[in-house]
Amino acid sequence: MQTVAVSARLDQVRYDIRGPLSRRAHELEAEGRRILRLNIGNPGLFGFRVPQHLRDAISEKLPQSEAYCHQQGLLEAREAIAAQHRRHGAAAAAERVFLGNGVSELIGLSLSALLDPGDEVLVPAPDYPLWTAATRLNGGVPVHYQCPPERDHLPDPDEIAALVTPRTKALVVINPNNPTGAVYPRAVLDAMVAIAERHGLVLLCDEIYDSVLYDGAKFEPLAPLALDVPCISYGGLSKVHLACGYRVGWASVTGAERRIRPLLHALDLLASLRLCSNVTAQWAIKPALEGPNEIGKLTQPGGRLYEARAAIRNGVARSQFLTMVTPQAALYAFPGVDPERLPGFDDETFALGLLENENIILVPGSSFNIAARNHFRLTMLPEPAVLDEALAAIERELARTAEKKTRRVA
Ligand SMILES: Cc1ncc(COP(=O)(O)O)c(C=O)c1O
Repeated sequence: MQTVAVSARLDQVRYDIRGPLSRRAHELEAEGRRILRLNIGNPGLFGFRVPQHLRDAISEKLPQSEAYCHQQGLLEAREAIAAQHRRHGAAAAAERVFLGNGVSELIGLSLSALLDPGDEVLVPAPDYPLWTAATRLNGGVPVHYQCPPERDHLPDPDEIAALVTPRTKALVVINPNNPTGAVYPRAVLDAMVAIAERHGLVLLCDEIYDSVLYDGAKFEPLAPLALDVPCISYGGLSKVHLACGYRVGWASVTGAERRIRPLLHALDLLASLRLCSNVTAQWAIKPALEGPNEIGKLTQPGGRLYEARAAIRNGVARSQFLTMVTPQAALYAFPGVDPERLPGFDDETFALGLLENENIILVPGSSFNIAARNHFRLTMLPEPAVLDEALAAIERELARTAEKKTRRVA
């Protein structure tokens, strides 16, 4: 019997956050083990609740959610998004906002609108790996610019400029960053805009963590700095409003009218092909953007996310093996293993060992498109006491890894 041949386009496409390690975790769960899931930024799994006023809005509007809506999304939701962007100084307009089933869908739509085979997209490394995957899926070539821990995970604009070729089409900015928690300073963002302007690139700015900030970190949205430069800014309900399961994301297109007109038409066509995004959940957007800032309470001292981050920082400080740039934003920590203490460390082997021996799943750093194999990402979502224990378990597994190496050398 012949097996089904799937598209060769998928050969280079990876999304290891839900990859082989995650499948192994499911197998272990089926055998009755309890696995601590530190691999996915899914607040609802850890007892975080969607703010009540969002749920109320959806219940109330359920009877008005039965028809398709406009391909770009409900007007009242798009108006609320554009108004929020305008408050931050961007020239946003409801007619240039597109709603999607999560930012995920809109990333695919945007790259599909922009790329011809062989077009290059500048993507940060580490990145949120959908950006690299969606570039490849749409025939593009991801070209990674490095954001290493030695530079507090910030990009170097000169290095980015040196990667531009005549095929470069777009520059992806993930700010605040997943997986590193870096928040880009104004000077870096200005320099990135200048590169886009000089080389005619589109800025693709993933700002889904724009209000998940610690220690007074200041987030600067890109669109107000980009002015006439074509820019798509992405945001959504998944993280800031703790509503991953609602699948609500948005993309706001800004830039000089004459430059963005074809892009708007392409996005409109692609949005029409999928008719519209989930209508029910769109009713939560206006109350989310106009209501109280619930996430701010969680990221303040005493707040659940703040204290979770402190538990991870303390665990790293106690560790014989780990170092970390403290995340200033988002829901993740991205520690590294000191290569002098554990030479030849392999992040994937370690992650598998941690799962098998300690019942914890996290994501190896190389899943985020970096060459180095000495990092891993864990979420800051469990209770701080649970993270305390998880860090102790990680240390035990690191010690086991060190012991094996010593035995092999001896
Ligand atoms: C940086 C970044 N962008 C986009 C997404 C996709 O979010 P959603 O599709 O839930 O809106 C995520 C999810 O973790 C993310 O971390």
